[in-house]
Amino acid sequence: MRVAIIGSGPAGFYAAEALLRRTDVKVDVDVFDRLPTPYGLVRGGVAPDHQKIKSVARVFAATAARPSFRFLGNVRLGGDVTVEDLRRHYHQIVYATGNEADRRLGIPGEGIERCTPASVFVGWYNGHPDYRRARIDLSVRRVAVVGNGNVAVDVARILLRSRAELERTDIAAHALEALRESRVEEVFLLGRRGPEQAAFTPGELKELGHLEDADPVVDPAALEGCGPGEPGGNLELLRSFAARPLRPGRKRLHLRFLVSPTAILADADAGGGVAALELERNRLERRPDGSVVARGTGEKERLEVGLVFPAVGYAADPIPGVPHDAKARLIANRDGRVVDPATGQAVPGEYVVGWARTGPQGLIGEHKRASAQVVAHMIADGTGLDARALPPREAIDGLLRERGVKLVSFQDWKQLDDVEVARGARRGAPRDKIVDVDAMLAILAPAQ
Ligand SMILES: Cc1cc2nc3c(=O)[nH]c(=O)nc-3n(C[C@H](O)[C@H](O)[C@H](O)COP(=O)(O)OP(=O)(O)OC[C@H]3O[C@@H](n4cnc5c(N)ncnc54)[C@H](O)[C@@H]3O)c2cc1C
Ligand SMILES: NC(=O)c1ccc[n+]([C@@H]2O[C@H](COP(=O)([O-])OP(=O)(O)OC[C@H]3O[C@@H](n4cnc5c(N)ncnc54)[C@H](OP(=O)(O)O)[C@@H]3O)[C@@H](O)[C@H]2O)c1
Repeated sequence: MRVAIIGSGPAGFYAAEALLRRTDVKVDVDVFDRLPTPYGLVRGGVAPDHQKIKSVARVFAATAARPSFRFLGNVRLGGDVTVEDLRRHYHQIVYATGNEADRRLGIPGEGIERCTPASVFVGWYNGHPDYRRARIDLSVRRVAVVGNGNVAVDVARILLRSRAELERTDIAAHALEALRESRVEEVFLLGRRGPEQAAFTPGELKELGHLEDADPVVDPAALEGCGPGEPGGNLELLRSFAARPLRPGRKRLHLRFLVSPTAILADADAGGGVAALELERNRLERRPDGSVVARGTGEKERLEVGLVFPAVGYAADPIPGVPHDAKARLIANRDGRVVDPATGQAVPGEYVVGWARTGPQGLIGEHKRASAQVVAHMIADGTGLDARALPPREAIDGLLRERGVKLVSFQDWKQLDDVEVARGARRGAPRDKIVDVDAMLAILAPAQ
């Protein structure tokens, strides 16, 4: 059986691994990615100061070393290759395209200068080619990060890390330079619900108490009325932050709860960029189903900040030819089987894994089991499909080359990897990323 997997993030790689481990069927797996570099958010999302998590790339590289695996980088589904092409060249297709768009706050002023989705800031500091030219103005002293998830925590932490802390990471060189010159002194992390409902995890929260050059600030009043919480959990950590003396002269990370931005206010004198946030205080309301929601009280305040990063979640944009669930903003599916959103009918031979299937929830490791489950469906459904005659395996490469696509193989990626690691060694970092697709292709040009 021949399978195309579109997207080389954790979900795509774990699906490839599950397929290649089968002993009952021989599967040839071609993994495509729109970037010349593999690993999705492991490279472009996971924070540069979280190197340990990135070591999962070694597991993926071991999958890539299997003889019937191929990586076809620099190929975009819906641009360079179509779903129709894939149907002709493969027995089955797995979409593993993640969630690359961001969710919006939907309030007045969103989108003005210096109000930037967290996804852009994250892509910028991680050297994602799409965001290498993003304008991130760090000349302001106060910044708001909206949201109480782990992405919001990542953003706040990177803004407050010292130069020395950042230098030893694989942060993109342009971001390192800009953050070295940063004037940011105070960051406000804004949760619309209370401390008990925060989505960030204790491991990530705890790190905020160990920053070289910044202290977390929690108003003890914000924790009044909260239960005891788990040992080592968010509440215990927040209480320890609230009780801690602040080190003089350090930067500050204010963790605020029960506030929602209702407008982003522009500064007419400073070119119309962000001058402040209008915040509304919230109270919590328990719904009959047990969920707890934030309700505005009408009480407003103004928070002076010069830069705002909404970090309120990701979503999938539609890909031409791929059935899209417009409401949930993911690929229409039932349990990983792609369906026509209008009729609910399964689209034979097409599957979806990872964030493209579920929306933006869950950690890297969780994709291993989830992708394997979808592979089990594929094998169960696949009987007979593999009998369909296909063009030779390399015919897709020829088709893409005819279209002017410069294919990047896993071997090519390893060459880029070596260059990045060697460049990084010069600054004592794990790697110094190449952030420009043309520059990557230029390095590979002699081989292509
Ligand atoms: C900022 C951030 C930090 C995170 N940090 C952690 C962490 O520290 N630890 C942890 O466990 N989890 C972390 N996560 C969660 C983790 O990254 C996700 O669970 C996981 O990456 C989702 O895997 P995926 O394969 O579905 O998508 P992705 O990793 O997003 O991979 C999708 C891939 O598809 C490719 N693609 C998209 N569209 C196309 C197309 N049209 N054609 C071809 N290719 C395409 C993309 O280039 C990408 O390589 C983080 C998430 C974010 C957003
Ligand atoms: N280090 C790590 O392990 C790490 C790092 C980054 C990401 N991740 C994972 O990646 C996934 C995505 O992370 P994420 O932070 O993007 O998503 P998330 O965990 O879903 O958090 C989103 C946050 O945004 C808030 N929010 C949503 N809409 C809002 C609005 N209109 N106004 C104000 N706040 C709003 C949510 O509040 P409500 O709860 O009230 O909806 C929530 O606090 C998570 O599973 C996360 O754990 C892990």
